Amino acid sequence: MVVLPPPHARRRNLALLLHCAIETGHLVKTAGSAYSLDAPGGAAALPRILAIAMLALAASTARADSRRDVPYVATSPDAVQQMIALAQLRAGDVVYDLGCGDGRIVIAAVKVPGVRGVCVEIDPALVRLGREEAEKAGVASKITFVQGDIFEVPIEDATVVMLYLLREVNLRLRPRLWKELRPGTRVLSNTFDMGDWQPERQVAVPPGSTTIYRWTISGARR
Ligand SMILES: C[S@@+](CC[C@H](N)C(=O)[O-])C[C@H]1O[C@@H](n2cnc3c(N)ncnc32)[C@H](O)[C@@H]1O
Repeated sequence: MVVLPPPHARRRNLALLLHCAIETGHLVKTAGSAYSLDAPGGAAALPRILAIAMLALAASTARADSRRDVPYVATSPDAVQQMIALAQLRAGDVVYDLGCGDGRIVIAAVKVPGVRGVCVEIDPALVRLGREEAEKAGVASKITFVQGDIFEVPIEDATVVMLYLLREVNLRLRPRLWKELRPGTRVLSNTFDMGDWQPERQVAVPPGSTTIYRWTISGARR
């Protein structure tokens, strides 16, 4: 059963969805006020658009029933591998996933020798699932699971931060990242950018044309 939100929330949801589709390049302005859906990735991009739509539609009501800023949508296995490759992990790295879901990004990251991880997640059921998945993968001893809010949990020992949130949430988190992370810390985001903070790298992950962005915290930003 699907429970539709009230009309004002539906209008906001639609606006959010359109905003996300434009932000991510799935909806492209052609002429005047006309938009085209055959953006990068063509028809192959449709699953990605649906995932973004799910995120956007659920996000506007997510805060009402819990303190979630973003609903749970998992990063695809290909995108997980791309995030790890772009992070250029090395021994000694401490990888945080802020809003870690089932922990899949950190579970994959700590398989790199000498890397440990911290999974921050507000939903206790997902924290339990993440712990179980880490046990199954034989890496539980390398991961700390923190049930808490990404805007409150201390993050200053991170050397890599993984995100799959929303652009609006990235922008709210950005001052924390700049203030609390040490210079040299890499920040990676699935799908959503950081506004006028230009990424140093961005890579498309086919077939859904997910984009992974990478930034590095510099001393100058503090
Ligand atoms: C889009 S999912 C991404 C999950 C995982 N990072 C991945 O990429 O597979 C976002 C996650 O953030 C969590 N979340 C949302 N708001 C949060 C908050 N304020 N503090 C901690 N976690 C939050 C949600 O419960 C959800 O699991």
